[in-house]
Amino acid sequence: MLKLRPLTAAVLLTLAAAMPALAGEVEVLHYWTSGGEAKSVAELKKIMQAKGHSWKDFAVAGGGGDNAATVLKSRVVAGNPPSAAQIKGPAIQEWAREGVLANLDAVAKAEKWDSLLPKVVADVMKYQGSYVAAPVNVHRVNWVWANPAVLKKAGVATMPKTYEEFFAAADKIKAAGLIPLAHGGQSWQDLTVFEDVVLGIGGAKFYADAFVKLDPKAFASDTMKKSLETFRKLKAYTDPGAAGRDWNLATAMVMQGKAGFQFMGDWAKGEFLAAGKAPGKDFLCAATPGTANAFSFNIDSIAMFKLKSADAQKAQADLAAAIMSTEFQEVFNLNKGSIPARLNLKMDKFDDCAKTSGKDFVETAKTGSLVPSLAHDMAANPAVEGALKDAVSQFWNNDKMSVAAAMKNIAAAAATK
Ligand code: BGC
Repeated sequence: MLKLRPLTAAVLLTLAAAMPALAGEVEVLHYWTSGGEAKSVAELKKIMQAKGHSWKDFAVAGGGGDNAATVLKSRVVAGNPPSAAQIKGPAIQEWAREGVLANLDAVAKAEKWDSLLPKVVADVMKYQGSYVAAPVNVHRVNWVWANPAVLKKAGVATMPKTYEEFFAAADKIKAAGLIPLAHGGQSWQDLTVFEDVVLGIGGAKFYADAFVKLDPKAFASDTMKKSLETFRKLKAYTDPGAAGRDWNLATAMVMQGKAGFQFMGDWAKGEFLAAGKAPGKDFLCAATPGTANAFSFNIDSIAMFKLKSADAQKAQADLAAAIMSTEFQEVFNLNKGSIPARLNLKMDKFDDCAKTSGKDFVETAKTGSLVPSLAHDMAANPAVEGALKDAVSQFWNNDKMSVAAAMKNIAAAAATK
């Protein structure tokens, strides 16, 4: 069974407000509540409504989706699943193993999903060879966002490519009286930054040894030690208000010129765009230090739950087809900051950050440096990911904890069964 996190009051309220799905209606559980996210999901709603279905929005606030996962679990256990939910990575297989997910093979075969999706994407959507989820996008996690006006004011000429360059730039921003690194101290955001650091310091193979293979040797290595030291050093460049801050508020700090940089996946670009900011002019994107030749991927996907009514099943099939349509994949991803999951879509409407992402996704798949994001549910099962999240945040939050103690905790978390 999936690991349950304690229910927060907000989660319980949302749960209480949720009603069972009606026939012909699609109730979709997701956590896309920020400006850019809400604009993106509104496009799916429009398409479904145009097909004559009614859309019941079941949005559970909370970046990274931990709250949504908790609510979903309660709904399924209560025998009242939504029609569809945003579920990603190995959690898709866990839910499928429970026998609660609907088989999407009929629509997938009719629409030839196998030939439309990169294998690495299709594999995540399948359980025992059958499609049980539909992908909406590919997010890249290893991005750093910057405000060019802040960099200019501080005398930083280029986006940092190494940690040495990053810390030199951060010192200049600090000296200019601004916050070098906008951060939200929530465990999924801490882990997002940490995985960027591990990828940058250790490279893709080391990253995969640690976070995919969960190899104890990787957790005991000097590379892990160096990663933790670098991660701790980053904290000194965040502001005291970081604790508990939502990710989009950290993005807003960069937007407003209060902070120089933010390490965040490209859903942050959705925020910049929703606020009318132009890439290359009002904000800059670059791979996080040391990761220009690697790509940590995060695929958002919608899984459908087994429902009895024929109308509900028809609505689910239509939802799956809508998600894979070229029309939706383009407009959703233009808003979301990600790139389409479907192959061979025209990218001419996309900006340079997305074009880089598209090119790097293909290249890194060839070179073996395409890695699944741990913080975004793609690399490990939910229990291991949750344990690693907690261990990494404990270190981030406790300046007195030694690197050696953190290494022990993190290795123990990785060994969670
Ligand atoms: C999801 C994104 C979402 C972000 C912030 C990530 O895990 O993949 O779709 O925008 O969390 O909530």
